[in-house]
Amino acid sequence: MREAPRRPAAEAFLAEHGRLVEEALDRHLPSVDTPPQIVHRAMRYSVFAGGKRLRPILVIAGAGVAGMAPRDILPAACAAELIHTYSLIHDDLPAMDNSPMRRGRPTCHVVFGEAMAVLAGDALHALAFELLVRTAEHPGCPPERIVRAVGELTRGIGTAGMVGGQVLDMIAAGGPPDEASVREIHRLKTGSLIRACLRIGGILGGASEADIEILTRYGENLGLAFQIIDDILDVVGEQAKLGKETGSDVNKVTFPAVFGLERSRQLADEATRQAIASVEPLGPRGTHLRDLALFLLQRER
Ligand code: IPE
Ligand code: IPE
Ligand code: MG
Ligand code: MG
Ligand code: MG
Repeated sequence: MREAPRRPAAEAFLAEHGRLVEEALDRHLPSVDTPPQIVHRAMRYSVFAGGKRLRPILVIAGAGVAGMAPRDILPAACAAELIHTYSLIHDDLPAMDNSPMRRGRPTCHVVFGEAMAVLAGDALHALAFELLVRTAEHPGCPPERIVRAVGELTRGIGTAGMVGGQVLDMIAAGGPPDEASVREIHRLKTGSLIRACLRIGGILGGASEADIEILTRYGENLGLAFQIIDDILDVVGEQAKLGKETGSDVNKVTFPAVFGLERSRQLADEATRQAIASVEPLGPRGTHLRDLALFLLQRER
């Protein structure tokens, strides 16, 4: 894509909101002194290992489209990051991708053992819903919106969403890579949560149905582009920058396996273009979303 990526603007948006998310996560996660200490240590170990915080920032950006201030949506934004971190801990387990490194550190199971890694993931999953419901403490957020947001998150991460995608990813591994499978795997395992983050932001912020639809289309396209880039980085990325092992997808059904690297890059480009086109009707309210999509296309981590 030839357009100027407006990198500084997107970087500033990520940095500013990333800081807010970081502080909120620290407030909401039980301290390492709280019993049972071992699982709280494992949870904090994986959460505070330096992720990009993309999903919470998408919740904030979705709410921003409806004019809700970042601070008012922070518990829901943290919920998205906790779900994501739980999914990474489980994704890295020996029974799944068997990955030794994550976010620049040895993976949770390597440090705490498999049982604690499973349980830390489970606990993050539970805490996420506790936090999401706490958005109700904000006086401007009626309970109907919370109920709808909980429904969005449960559907986004269940068997019709993220977990369903992880199931297909595991079943397809080692088999022939084909276009229909890889599209479905990526739509579900990565696209569903990203889509849900944008919708949850919009719903909690009180966006119109038309704007929620726009956020949905953006999320679907951004999610696809994001996972295609993740696949590409597994082939050409630098381990030190990524904070995880490269070359680990050799048996997986990925975009480069189906289309080759060059065509995969074009397809990531196209999905980004479509994400940007979908937020055009938002006018200036869509600026951050547009910048973010362009920035993520160029990412090296
Ligand atoms: C990695 O997600 C897993 C995918 C769905 C591709 P991220 O690349 O957002 O990981 P962190 O949160 O920055 O560590
Ligand atoms: C992970 O996909 C998707 C989820 C965790 C839901 P990958 O297996 O490609 O993610 P990485 O490359 O390990 O981060
Ligand atoms: Mg995986
Ligand atoms: Mg993996
Ligand atoms: Mg990957």
